[in-house]
Amino acid sequence: MARLRVGVLISGRGTNLQALIDASADPAAPAEVALVISSQGDAQGLARARAAGIRSEIINYRAFNAKQGFEASLDAALRGGRIDLVCLAGFMRILTPWFVERWRDRLINIHPSLLPAFKGLDTHARVLDSGARFSGCTVHFVRAEMDEGPIIVQAVAPVMPGDTPDTLAARVLGLEHRCYPLAVHLIAEGRVRVQNERVEILNATVANAIMINPLG
Ligand code: GRF
Repeated sequence: MARLRVGVLISGRGTNLQALIDASADPAAPAEVALVISSQGDAQGLARARAAGIRSEIINYRAFNAKQGFEASLDAALRGGRIDLVCLAGFMRILTPWFVERWRDRLINIHPSLLPAFKGLDTHARVLDSGARFSGCTVHFVRAEMDEGPIIVQAVAPVMPGDTPDTLAARVLGLEHRCYPLAVHLIAEGRVRVQNERVEILNATVANAIMINPLG
């Protein structure tokens, strides 16, 4: 069966991209990373794409006068690459409703908190400030409002005594690298359905929630 063609949009180091690349290295995997697009010419993730022999493009928003041109160019590259599913992985541009609607239910994002809590930037510092005992990550379908949209997979990580934003980020990142490939796998198997803005996982043989043992 043809594999689902995944396009990954990045702006930086690309460790989630790497997790998706590693998952698609298994020939039995139902999805493959077919295209990487970076909004930054110096993104570390571009080297990851090159090392894996995956086509990559730089589409720098600064080269465009308006968001419209930038997004039209993204859209054209994704369509040209016959991309079925777009994964935002540390992509630092906010997409307009035009782009989001064009890729509706074929555009997903990973956010380093348990949405709908702690949307936006500086997530881990805000989690620590709040006194929350748990954090985690969320893979969700993208909607026009930032960090909104039907939730596909979540994972929970404990906040530990003495945590700093960096130590919490590292713990959550480890979970992100498991959640993102899982979400893509479920979608590629055709098991993810959005109904009334809620995700239904069909024939769920794997859980779409992951929890790590705080002691283990
Ligand atoms: C991740 O924490 C992701 O949740 C957030 O941006 C970060 C990207 O990291 N959206 P990387 O570039 O995948 O290493």
